Amino acid sequence: MALFISFEGGEGSGKSTQAKILHGRLANLSIAVKFIREPGATELGGYVREWLKRGLPIEKTISNHAELFLFSAARAELVTKELKHHLSKPNAAIVADRYVDSTTAYQGYGRGIPLEQLEVVNALATQGVMPDLTFLLDIAPAEGLARMGAVQYGFRLDDDMSATESERHTEGGRFEDEPPDFHERVRQGYLHLAASEPDRFHIIDAAQPQHRISNRIWETLRLRFPEAIPQG
Ligand code: TMP
Repeated sequence: MALFISFEGGEGSGKSTQAKILHGRLANLSIAVKFIREPGATELGGYVREWLKRGLPIEKTISNHAELFLFSAARAELVTKELKHHLSKPNAAIVADRYVDSTTAYQGYGRGIPLEQLEVVNALATQGVMPDLTFLLDIAPAEGLARMGAVQYGFRLDDDMSATESERHTEGGRFEDEPPDFHERVRQGYLHLAASEPDRFHIIDAAQPQHRISNRIWETLRLRFPEAIPQG
């Protein structure tokens, strides 16, 4: 049975670090585990990530709907070329650093695209392929952004809790500079999503130290999928 686990959260939530830790732990169990990152993981996804980090060469900004379709196009490609095939394998797992819930949180709750419109686009992009379990790393936006070095929020960085160097360089970009209320809408959007699908979502307080979060994630996984993850 192939497991599909996704990680979600706002900027600086530390989800990328946790996704990588989980990937390493599953790989140690000889599970055929694949790490994917959205956008990314396919050639088209790589182009979308480039745009995300740099914008267009001249115009820089694009419309909200074009943004929605770029993320969704990358996801459709990922599902068709990578996810479906890998999920059909026995003793396999996928660990995803973001998936379709990011679109609902950022383009829906953040940008304000009506949720009923998003449902249609999301269904097309995912072709019904959804995670078995989603870890939502929840953190106050000011704290998450401060971890990423957004000093204008004036939060002190705690060594154990701060984002890794690579996270500072790879997370955010296009969305980091959005006003605080944008990030608060994204956070509340994620919390709504989690409340509406309590079986799939597991909310984690991302302000805790990294090792405590990774242990909690591991225990949750072992309890939920004892047949896939041996105890002890
Ligand atoms: P990252 O923080 O994981 O590097 O993700 C890149 C950014 O893209 C992050 O700010 C969230 C945003 N994003 C969306 O707005 N919609 C999406 O569907 C995805 C996958 C990411």
